[in-house]
Amino acid sequence: MGGSWDTVGGYGEPSPEGGCVQDSDDLGELAEGVATGSLLDARQVETAVRGLEQVTAGGTARPGRRTPSPASGGAPRGAAVRLRVREGIPRFPAAIDHAQLLNELAEEYLARSPKSAGLNERAARSLVDGGSHALRLIEPFPPRITSAKGAYVRDEDGHALLDFWQGHYANLLGHNPEVVTTVLARAFEAGFGLQTGLTDRLEVETAELLCERVGAERTRFTTSGTLATMYAILLARASTGRSLVMKVGGGWHGAQPWGLVGVGFGSQDAPFQGADSEGLSAAVRGEVVVTPFNDPERLSDQFRRSGDRVACFIVEPFIGSGAGMPASPEFLHAARELCDRHGALLIFDEVISGFRFRAGDAGAFFGIRPDLACFAKVIGGGMPVAAVAGRADILALAGRAKGRRVRFSGGTYSAHPASLLAAKTMMSHLVAHEGEIYPRLSSLGAKVRATVEGAFATEGILARCTGRGNGILPDSPISLLTFPRRASSPLRGPQDTRNPAVCDVALGEEVVQLALLLEDVHVVHGLGTVTAAHTEADVERLGEACRRVARRFRYALKQRRA
Ligand SMILES: Cc1ncc(COP(=O)(O)O)c(C=O)c1O
Repeated sequence: MGGSWDTVGGYGEPSPEGGCVQDSDDLGELAEGVATGSLLDARQVETAVRGLEQVTAGGTARPGRRTPSPASGGAPRGAAVRLRVREGIPRFPAAIDHAQLLNELAEEYLARSPKSAGLNERAARSLVDGGSHALRLIEPFPPRITSAKGAYVRDEDGHALLDFWQGHYANLLGHNPEVVTTVLARAFEAGFGLQTGLTDRLEVETAELLCERVGAERTRFTTSGTLATMYAILLARASTGRSLVMKVGGGWHGAQPWGLVGVGFGSQDAPFQGADSEGLSAAVRGEVVVTPFNDPERLSDQFRRSGDRVACFIVEPFIGSGAGMPASPEFLHAARELCDRHGALLIFDEVISGFRFRAGDAGAFFGIRPDLACFAKVIGGGMPVAAVAGRADILALAGRAKGRRVRFSGGTYSAHPASLLAAKTMMSHLVAHEGEIYPRLSSLGAKVRATVEGAFATEGILARCTGRGNGILPDSPISLLTFPRRASSPLRGPQDTRNPAVCDVALGEEVVQLALLLEDVHVVHGLGTVTAAHTEADVERLGEACRRVARRFRYALKQRRA
């Protein structure tokens, strides 16, 4: 395998906080009950478990819980709260079955959230599954939000949730930052904001700013990262006259035809080979070549096999979905070199990485210039803005001079005035405060990782956060929480983090999410992102919540064994 993941991320090394994680089959041990002492000394384990038994024996809430249990009369008992580990996630035969724990968590959750529960029943009658984005539709039902400010969101039932999802990672300054909202409020008051269907000075200024910060010759705005990657791929196919699209297994580029292949883990024998949606043509399925993240040798093999038919390789400098890890410099340099050698285009999907590590593109850290790059999320300042940026000769294929060979000619809400105003305000703010914001985000991200790993280690549970820097890309504000089956398991990318043989995927997704919601903490994929609005005290709060959750996990496992 290429790359240097065993050393870069420190995944095979002892936890800095816990300091006691050895190469043992930790979750295997937990599956049997309580860790046998390879993680914690036996006395510590026994004390923790006895404490839990005492607290729970009297029918009171579990330690640290602020919510009355249904049994204590806090709220109606759930009539039929049944949860299954989400379908479609393949289960490793030795995986722990979390259904019982999930059901317990769901009952408590229902008891503390009657208003959200009621709204959800209504929602299910008009919205598919009760909402418009699958990641928001937490089971058994999502908290319905009434307001959001800084690091917190408030729900219908009055809980102030410490939020690490932050608008799908879009909110680098936290929820509704005044720097953006005051500018928008003033603009609306002055009669500027909703769509005009014309163009304006703002569009010019925002494009100039973006091009300057990401080293692009031209850009065109659109409304979502999904559309941006789809247009970039169309441009690459038109520019090269080729049809194959190479992408990373597990990489998410939005729900557009080529992005929908090679997303779900699939089977051990052929990971990331399937299509993630019905309705795709067989041709599209056959046009996608999938290669593992951070594996330059496999990338080279793929190009050797089909390089003369590859239109583009689309890759994230920091892979977001399912992994949260920086690309290794070896991988990205190999990508640039192989694309050049085989006449393919290199597309950086910077929807997550753009303006996340500096006030510009992440590609700059690697000293690599892609042919095209896609931006969204942070650049919109909380509004729907995306862009394809890059070489003028390629983007010209969407222009008049080339007869609009690619129909990337805009939609009703392209370059929406209020959205571009938020985008320009946000990007300008990040440029002006680059020296303070980014180092702080990096160190707070590192603190989150140490705190969370340490919290689980205290209870003898092996947890690993992704998101560490690699010497090229700094420590990330984003982390995903994983539960590797072995301390020595390398976590190189989605090929490991989504692999149920390597990590307990269900524990890191549904179980942790629901357990932390009961602690008034909202995470997705086990964790999420810090923002400029998060404080050290928020990280401490997260750590305490994780410690209680870890204790609960240990208790549930012990009960199961009994
Ligand atoms: C790397 C990446 N590319 C593209 C997309 C799609 O962007 P959007 O959700 O704005 O359509 C996402 C969304 O999460 C993403 O993470």
